[in-house]
Amino acid sequence: MEMMTPGRKGPLLPVALVTGASSGIGRALAGAFAGMGNHLLLVARSADRLAGLSRELQAAHGVSVFCCPADLAQQESPQRIFDYCTLHHLSVRLLVNCAGTSRASDFSDLAFEDIERIMQVNMSAAARLARLFIPGMAAERDGAVINIASLGGLQGVPGLGLYSATKSFMITLGEALHMELRGTGVKVVTVCPGFVDTGFMESSGHDRRGVRLPVRSVDVVVRAVLRGYRQNRMRVYPTILDFLVIFSQRFVSRHFSVRLSGYLAAARNNR
Ligand SMILES: NC(=O)c1ccc[n+]([C@@H]2O[C@H](COP(=O)([O-])OP(=O)(O)OC[C@H]3O[C@@H](n4cnc5c(N)ncnc54)[C@H](OP(=O)(O)O)[C@@H]3O)[C@@H](O)[C@H]2O)c1
Repeated sequence: MEMMTPGRKGPLLPVALVTGASSGIGRALAGAFAGMGNHLLLVARSADRLAGLSRELQAAHGVSVFCCPADLAQQESPQRIFDYCTLHHLSVRLLVNCAGTSRASDFSDLAFEDIERIMQVNMSAAARLARLFIPGMAAERDGAVINIASLGGLQGVPGLGLYSATKSFMITLGEALHMELRGTGVKVVTVCPGFVDTGFMESSGHDRRGVRLPVRSVDVVVRAVLRGYRQNRMRVYPTILDFLVIFSQRFVSRHFSVRLSGYLAAARNNR
């Protein structure tokens, strides 16, 4: 993480902090928020990709873009990102918790390193960043936290058990924060996409050819995020089908829902 550069001088600059900005949904959201005139702070491990995106967005939208490469699997990273903001006089008004990681595997086959990494990135880092930046947003009575969770967080998904548990954590924490922060000027929106056309499945070892749900474009998720953000929705489903999959769970047993989610995700196919 670049901490040795001299700090930016001048008044506090409001920025949107996007984690997972180096690819997929996070990259597209960074573009969307830059297009709306927001200055940005981009976070992910891939420093080169962040630098390339930063140049692209500054040229296209005339906004300031800062990059803070960080491995969110390391417990100290959220505090270091907060310190970077202090050093550079950045005031985070929008936090997009988009970085995420997974491993398609039965739980008993998961390596301990994978367990730690998935829990640290998907839960601890997102929670710590929210805890660090929400007080500043509340003090300004202006801010938002957007969590990119998953449909998988609404029931256990066999073959993606730990991942789905981390997304459940994000959904329930987001719901509680949404209520706690009502009336403070800080929105908390949790978005639950189904399968999305990014490199996520491939990097998780999840063979997408077996998936029995439509794989949506990133644009569908971006539109859902912007809709949820404008309306301060507690939970957002990007498509009607996503909504129906979850709504229909009211009429069947939990056992059936979990079994169906395993069938639709087909993450155990390569066993
Ligand atoms: N694709 C789907 O089907 C789908 C469905 C529902 C929800 N989601 C969620 O959407 C979010 C974005 O995923 P995506 O589909 O856009 O996949 P992606 O293209 O693989 O993006 C994942 C992002 O997370 C970052 N990341 C991963 N591990 C990290 C770490 N240790 N430290 C810092 N950053 C890290 C990656 O950056 P670096 O590799 O550069 O660090 C990358 O920018 C995730 O939270 C995922 O759970 C995805």
